[in-house]
Amino acid sequence: MSKESNYRIILGFVFVVTIFVAFLVGALLVNIEHRKSEGENKVVRLTDVTEDTTDASIWGQNWPLQYDLYKKTALRTHTRFGGHGGSEDLPRQKLDMYPFLRTVYQGYAFAIDYRERRGHQYMLIDQEQTKRQTVPQTGSCLHCHATVIPFYKHIGNGDVFAGFEKSYKLSFKEASETLHKIGHAFPLSCVDCHDPKTMNLRVTRPAFIQGIQRFANSDADVPFLPSIKIFRDGKRSEPYNPNTQASRNEMRSFVCAQCHTEYYCSAKMPLEVPWGKGLGVENIEAYWNEKKFPDGDNFYDFEHKLTGAKVLKAQHPDFEVWSQGVHARAGVACADCHMPYIRTGASKVSDHWVRSPLLNINRACQVCHFFPEKELEERVNGIQDKNCELLKDAGRAVEDLIKEIAKARESGATEKELEKSFQCQRKAQWYLDFAMSENSMGFHAPQEMARILARSSDIARQGQIEAIKFKENKEP
Ligand code: HEC
Ligand code: HEC
Ligand code: HEC
Ligand code: HEC
Ligand code: HEC
Repeated sequence: MSKESNYRIILGFVFVVTIFVAFLVGALLVNIEHRKSEGENKVVRLTDVTEDTTDASIWGQNWPLQYDLYKKTALRTHTRFGGHGGSEDLPRQKLDMYPFLRTVYQGYAFAIDYRERRGHQYMLIDQEQTKRQTVPQTGSCLHCHATVIPFYKHIGNGDVFAGFEKSYKLSFKEASETLHKIGHAFPLSCVDCHDPKTMNLRVTRPAFIQGIQRFANSDADVPFLPSIKIFRDGKRSEPYNPNTQASRNEMRSFVCAQCHTEYYCSAKMPLEVPWGKGLGVENIEAYWNEKKFPDGDNFYDFEHKLTGAKVLKAQHPDFEVWSQGVHARAGVACADCHMPYIRTGASKVSDHWVRSPLLNINRACQVCHFFPEKELEERVNGIQDKNCELLKDAGRAVEDLIKEIAKARESGATEKELEKSFQCQRKAQWYLDFAMSENSMGFHAPQEMARILARSSDIARQGQIEAIKFKENKEP
């Protein structure tokens, strides 16, 4: 071969390689650009969504990744204390798991049917089907179990707050029929947490907005909500508005606090969230103790059937208990643990399959805690087992107190003679129920929960001694 043809072959080879490399670089650039735009979640809106788009599947046309995850809240999940799994159709009956509850709730609908929770897709069905509906319930129940805002607008002639204030006067049956008739009978949906124009997080529930405003106007401690501190230090010309004043991080908890909170809901007065004195168990107790019904009577949830005491009923204070723990103080929001980021393809999205964080400890916890998964799981188990033990101790103590008061009544004790025992029952039962109806089995604020349960046991035993004293005085 001549030198020249050698040279040509080399030149040809270089040419082919150059074209190939140029092609590879080009392809890579196109790919990077594509991934970048995916990463930014740029969305071409295929469908228009508005305040009245309560059907999540329509939003799903624009945001299919979040919608697919959201739909998974219909799947069964199961942990030792959370979720709902196994072969049973309905979640486990809490009344069977903690039999003292049947005594504690005597005289109230909760003694008929009280189950564990399950995924968000079930919220409306479970509310419609609970046997607690055998006792007439109010239209306000829908507040946290449906995409309720268009319904409030409908019954309030265009005014959401007016509709909200009116809803307690409707029976659950009437309200639910209207909700179905106007085509908005869906469980929690995108529009409840997102502004349809901007997709920013926002809160919509009137009871939450009123509750957080009461809280902002109080002087209770707020190390966990910096924007409320800023509000208090400012001019306060307008009430605190979470949608414009809260930080993005606070909103990642507020959207959940719209429903996962203690409340009062009946046909006697509008739905109310009791945060006017703070979020601690004593603050809320004091708030209810000062509260009057519209007819001037002192506030209570129900009259206990076995003793006649007028007592309180707590329900799922998840936000309140979270606020008392180290995670809230460290700025860790509900969504950090319950909606951690998930990678699907090239996109990173928030996991809209809201569920127990113990089902994905690596994404929910290990982003902050660099220990092995097993160790984290054991820490949680340790906290929950201890909490469960204290819970059962307190439950037995309150049950003993109730039985002792009932005996004293049978042997002729008057309400006046039993006043101290009644006060102890109201208190001990409140503390027990606060821990019972909270959903993390102690995890959200372990030490605070242990304190609350120890108080419950102590007060229950004091009340029991008071009731026994009556018997001893009678039988010299
Ligand atoms: C630091 C992480 C963390 C934060 C923050 C957090 N949670 Fe939890 N949550 C947990 C753990 C762990 C459990 C226990 C789960 C279990 O037992 O399976 C739990 C349980 C729950 C449950 C019951 C879950 C089930 O599967 O039944 C609910 C409801 C809940 N949390 C709501 C909230 C709300 C509302 C907030 C914010 C106000 C919040 N959580 C903040 C970790 C967290
Ligand atoms: C509109 C009210 C509402 C909002 C807002 C809401 N929840 Fe719930 N949540 C419920 C109800 C009601 C249930 C129980 C449904 C049932 O048992 O049928 C529930 C159940 C749950 C469960 C149990 C799931 C399971 O599989 O057992 C978790 C965990 C939870 N919610 C966490 C959250 C978190 C975190 C947020 C905020 C990102 C949030 N929720 C926002 C009303 C709400
Ligand atoms: C302030 C919000 C709110 C209101 C108002 C509300 N709920 Fe719920 N409800 C929840 C949340 C959050 C859960 C899930 C956590 C749990 O089970 O503790 C839940 C769970 C339930 C469940 C499933 C677990 C169980 O208790 O058996 C039923 C049934 C239910 N609610 C019925 C009702 C009825 C009836 C009313 C009206 C009296 C009502 N709810 C009013 C927020 C609310
Ligand atoms: C209970 C409240 C809640 C509901 C209901 C909800 N989201 Fe979200 N969504 C969140 C939270 C919290 C984030 C995280 C936002 C942040 O950190 O700024 C989020 C983030 C998003 C984002 C931004 C990208 C991402 O994934 O972080 C999109 C898009 C989105 N949601 C779409 C939807 C759609 C579509 C639905 C209905 C199928 C829906 N969301 C229902 C609470 C909710
Ligand atoms: C965004 C960060 C973050 C996430 C997510 C997070 N944690 Fe934490 N966790 C913290 C911080 C900060 C503390 C405070 C103690 C400290 O400074 O180490 C803490 C404290 C704890 C403690 C000690 C509790 C106590 O009362 O002293 C336990 C146990 C714990 N976390 C478990 C978990 C588990 C389980 C998860 C997942 C469900 C989780 N954490 C998710 C940041 C986080």
